[in-house]
Amino acid sequence: MAHVLDVSSARLQFPALKSGFMFADNAGGSQITQSSIDLIVDYLANTNVQLGADYSVSISSTQRVFSAAEHARELFGAEDKDEIIFGPSSTANLENLARGMEGSIEAGDEFIITGEHEANCGSWKKLAERRGAVIKYWHSTPTNPNNPYSLSLKVEDLLPLVSAKTRIVAFTATSNLLGSVVPVQEITKALRAEAAAKGAKKVEVSIDCVAYAPHRRMDVRAWDIDFCVFSFYKVYAPHISAMYVRAPALATSVSSIVHHFLRAEGPWKLQPGGPGYETVYGTTSVIPYLLSLTPAHNLDATFAAIAAHETKLVTALLAYLTAPEQAARGLCVVGVEEPGLSRVPTVSFVVVGERPMRSKDIVRVFDERGGIGIRYGHFYAYTLASLLPPPVDPEEGAVRVSLVHYNTLEEVETIISVFKEIFA
Ligand SMILES: Cc1ncc(COP(=O)(O)O)c(C=O)c1O
Repeated sequence: MAHVLDVSSARLQFPALKSGFMFADNAGGSQITQSSIDLIVDYLANTNVQLGADYSVSISSTQRVFSAAEHARELFGAEDKDEIIFGPSSTANLENLARGMEGSIEAGDEFIITGEHEANCGSWKKLAERRGAVIKYWHSTPTNPNNPYSLSLKVEDLLPLVSAKTRIVAFTATSNLLGSVVPVQEITKALRAEAAAKGAKKVEVSIDCVAYAPHRRMDVRAWDIDFCVFSFYKVYAPHISAMYVRAPALATSVSSIVHHFLRAEGPWKLQPGGPGYETVYGTTSVIPYLLSLTPAHNLDATFAAIAAHETKLVTALLAYLTAPEQAARGLCVVGVEEPGLSRVPTVSFVVVGERPMRSKDIVRVFDERGGIGIRYGHFYAYTLASLLPPPVDPEEGAVRVSLVHYNTLEEVETIISVFKEIFA
């Protein structure tokens, strides 16, 4: 039975939402639950000692920090908590992973990357430069011939890039600019078949789930991927990231030095200068929070309810943004224009044509009015933003409204009313 999300009770779990401010920049970072804050405070107040000693408080502290790896394992759908690594951010996690892989990359190896967020592109570009590997871009292409900005990643554009030398393929499960949900399992299956047919010996797949994890359930095993990251500050907890490295990859592709940092004594060992233990412990609120969202008390039901509610939000927003009056005004959605399950409520747009408007100026109206947080820019998807056709100033990028399940239809109506004033 499908469960309907009780948005009002969900909202009560977030202290920041009581302020009345409308948080509509959630792809930049979500709000944090009271339960996560309580865990952090409790850790600092009661178990803030060095891990690994034999006295009772240290035992309790160690158990608390270790338990976070099991929670992250479940969120990833991974097999073993030893495949989980914590780090200060997804960008840092992927950078350290790429550094650890130097020994397993040869000159002439090919990496296929997208133009999406730099976290899962920049680390591979730098690794390619250090090792003499070749970068190939899998670019997003328009879906609607009448809107050159209606971009999405398509498997038919990926497969011709695959060759016997393909070594790494890195893409986002959801773009933080386009808002699309990419069918990771389908793509990876097609990619692996193509790579096998062309004689590639070892292909490792790296998926950025940072903009996906707040909206859909991850399943690294079903997806048949090797590396995956998401950031807890986008899923109602503090700023810290978890990375999945599939056991065989950890054993064969990552150098022992970095392996030592990655996994020496437990999940917190990943990064020198990495996250505080209280922050790691603060992430153990995420699963209980997600389970609290429906009476079914399971993650599949929660994510189905989240997807259903968010689809209502994005349908209302896109109905306004894609209406003929807006098209006549020169407004183009950046990303897929159709609402539905293959989209999350992260909606970007530009206003071009005879009466163009700067993204900055549109967002300024919201800022001056106060009470609503949205933003504009390239959102660190530099390559994608700089290739938008026809070009827009990449620093200026697109206007982005990004919602999550705690946003309401009333909030969407308010955002639309501000747009109406701007485009009048
Ligand atoms: C799609 C995507 N990937 C990666 C990141 C980077 O995450 P972190 O800030 O944890 O490095 C972000 C952050 O906004 C993102 O939206």
